[in-house]
Amino acid sequence: MAPDFLRQSLREHLEWWEFKHFSSDREYFAWQRQQFSSEDLKQLALHAERKRTGDCRDEIAFYDLAAHPKICPVLYSQRYEYYEEIGVRTMAHLGQAKDVLDFGCGIGVLTIFYACLFPEKNFIGVDRSSASIAVAQERADKLGLHNLRFECVDVEAEPLSGSYDFVVATHALVQSEQDRGLPSQSWRTFERGRHLSQQLSFEERTGLAVRLDGLCQVLNSSGRMIVCEKTRQLARRVPLQRALANRGLQLAERPALIRYRTVEEVVDDGPFYVLSRGGEATLNWDEEPEQDQGPRFNPDAVSMSAGDVNVPLYENHWPSAQAAWEGLKDRQVIRETTRQAPDGRQVHAERGSSREQHYLYCANTFDQRQLVIVEEARSATIDEYYQEILRGLT
Ligand SMILES: C[S@@+](CC[C@H](N)C(=O)[O-])C[C@H]1O[C@@H](n2cnc3c(N)ncnc32)[C@H](O)[C@@H]1O
Repeated sequence: MAPDFLRQSLREHLEWWEFKHFSSDREYFAWQRQQFSSEDLKQLALHAERKRTGDCRDEIAFYDLAAHPKICPVLYSQRYEYYEEIGVRTMAHLGQAKDVLDFGCGIGVLTIFYACLFPEKNFIGVDRSSASIAVAQERADKLGLHNLRFECVDVEAEPLSGSYDFVVATHALVQSEQDRGLPSQSWRTFERGRHLSQQLSFEERTGLAVRLDGLCQVLNSSGRMIVCEKTRQLARRVPLQRALANRGLQLAERPALIRYRTVEEVVDDGPFYVLSRGGEATLNWDEEPEQDQGPRFNPDAVSMSAGDVNVPLYENHWPSAQAAWEGLKDRQVIRETTRQAPDGRQVHAERGSSREQHYLYCANTFDQRQLVIVEEARSATIDEYYQEILRGLT
């Protein structure tokens, strides 16, 4: 199916759900104010906060509320471009599948879309929010779909049944958005250690282990799986990838980075993984930081970039600052401080010189890097900045 046809069909489907596409916060929130009472807004904020800080009951309560017919179109309209991005990509891979499980399907927006477009395949959507499943089933019934059913199951409490040659799990496996993930081995590197206990701890506290094990149990030995979670930070991407690899899942194609807007906010999501089981692994897992937007660094031409005296000669707040720092010529450390937390996390600040220039470098075990280079005459600003950072560390 041509991508344009898919996208157009998906838009019509989202319209059928009464979702609207907004690209202006002002217009979206004006519409939200028309649809929601102040009590609705209060309840939503309360449930969102409980979901963020509470346990699985709070999370289920949030999704139950979100499925309410009054709330659902307004709330999920924020995810309009998310649905487009994930829906079109997933559809492109469903071709060979016969029995498809959509795990954590929510109200079934995409599951129903897939089932409409592929009447010859069987779909099942599973979620632990009973209100979401009720909405999904009601919507599927309205369309008279016979190749789709929904089940209310909490995979953490009971095993999934059946056997599938295709499993889809989008925004359903790594539910703890606040979890910082796995720190690097030290501030000097982006590499993660191979301590099993750290990996297991990540999988347990995010709920990944039990969910992924549940899915692997029902995936055929030659089945395929699509996974897309909010794991763009390396600290979350690495343990997710290791969890997939440890369960015998391999990359069937190069993971794709996902970008869409939630109304005005640009969201960098994914990666979008297409995984297979069995056969030879042909692609390696990438544990390096993504290519970033840090300015290119040429150690022989730093002074050439001098123009405005208020602007540093070079400034990079991205992981690529590390390569620039490593490339500094005749680097001399003048002062440095490294703080280490009891759990091994580190933060390092360094003030030094490189030939006739002065620099400040900061790095931590969550892949944050910062390099600022100034000319000698402005080295006092670097000292002040260094002191400021030290005060922030205490
Ligand atoms: C962020 S929503 C994603 C919905 C849908 N997959 C999508 O991409 O729009 C996550 C869903 O996963 C469900 N979920 C989380 N943990 C689950 C579990 N242990 N068993 C079943 N469903 C679960 C939640 O109830 C929620 O509806």
